[in-house]
Amino acid sequence: MRVSMMGAGYVGLVSGACFADFGHQVTCIDKDAAKIAALKRGEIPIFEPGLAELVESNMRQGRLEFAAKASRIGEADVGTGDEIENILREQRPEADIQVVSNPEFLREGAAIRDFKHPDRIVVGAEDERARSVLAEIYRPLYLNAPPIIYVSRRTAELIKYASNAFLATKVTFINEIADLCEQVGADVQEVARGMGLDNRIGGKFLHPGPGFGGSCFPKDTTALIKTAHDHGVPLRLVETVAAVNEQRKRAMARKVVVALGGSVRGKTIAVLGLTFKPNTDDTRDSPAIPLITALHDLGATVRGYDPAGMEQAKPLLPDVHYCQSAYAAAEGADALVIATEWEQFRALDLARLKAVMAQPVIVDLRNIYRSDEMRRAAFRYVPIGRAGVE
Ligand code: UDX
Repeated sequence: MRVSMMGAGYVGLVSGACFADFGHQVTCIDKDAAKIAALKRGEIPIFEPGLAELVESNMRQGRLEFAAKASRIGEADVGTGDEIENILREQRPEADIQVVSNPEFLREGAAIRDFKHPDRIVVGAEDERARSVLAEIYRPLYLNAPPIIYVSRRTAELIKYASNAFLATKVTFINEIADLCEQVGADVQEVARGMGLDNRIGGKFLHPGPGFGGSCFPKDTTALIKTAHDHGVPLRLVETVAAVNEQRKRAMARKVVVALGGSVRGKTIAVLGLTFKPNTDDTRDSPAIPLITALHDLGATVRGYDPAGMEQAKPLLPDVHYCQSAYAAAEGADALVIATEWEQFRALDLARLKAVMAQPVIVDLRNIYRSDEMRRAAFRYVPIGRAGVE
């Protein structure tokens, strides 16, 4: 089949490359001419594991190509399909075109795997011909037998927004439970495990942290809230989730203040992880940004390191001293904050850190270390929602 993909970013480029890998003939189109020129030279504009190889092999085999074109599509929400249909009908009244909603559920950092092994495929189409075209596009996945659900276009759009809002709610729920754990002396990791073993709840998206970020959860919860308001059905639960999450991101700086005895003024803080999650270079709505901004406002100097996100972070956080490794960032630091759980931060050499830091203090916003190992290494250790080391 021939597929044109509008937008060659985290979603479009991954989906386009995967469709090409299925054997379809794909053209990825983007309004950013420089990006398209780079892609034509074989340069990948984003960091996504496995993507460079997939793009390269499908370009070489002649199934994936790129083109630059202007685009008129604005922000997405529930009802975007109607808008696109209106634009198309306006411009080409004679064309026989069906607009289908086929939401993606790709996680950055695992997007290719998610594309090739989806939990479900949602097709929102009003017409049988459109459904059969989508069924044919996804036919190469039939051996994995993912359920395909056929619904109306509006329903498909709402499935996408409701799914992301629900997951954002789950994360926010455990974040608040983590705060309560700190006050009552419970362990949030054990609470999450105890809850998650109930199949009705499930253990995924119950990891407490500095608040959700990224390109989807913040944008999609906001879009859903706005749509609901426009239709006179305020979603108070989702509104609260969005508000609680915003407050949480900045409040993480307080944890650092408390860990350093009440003030960070004149102190140096190392922040490891600037992207909103590991295995991506994406810093959009990353919790590290309000954290660092708050630390700066409180008078601290911040040294930062991220394995993939420093170029994206620089314009957002120009006052950070960017370093070339976790150990370099830790040099002279009064506290080290783990903001993103990159693999390479999970087994840091604690003795080496201690030797270069001004004070042995670690604030672990992703709970990737254990208190007993920190106690042995004589660090003050502040995790989320469980006992640390004083
Ligand atoms: C999400 C959805 O998972 C995906 O289906 C949708 O298509 C796009 O949005 P993504 O934004 O890539 O994907 O990241 P995800 O892994 O869902 O994490 C979102 C945010 O929640 C991150 O900031 C992450 O750190 C945070 N999170 C996630 C937690 O804090 N705890 C968790 O248990 C899970």
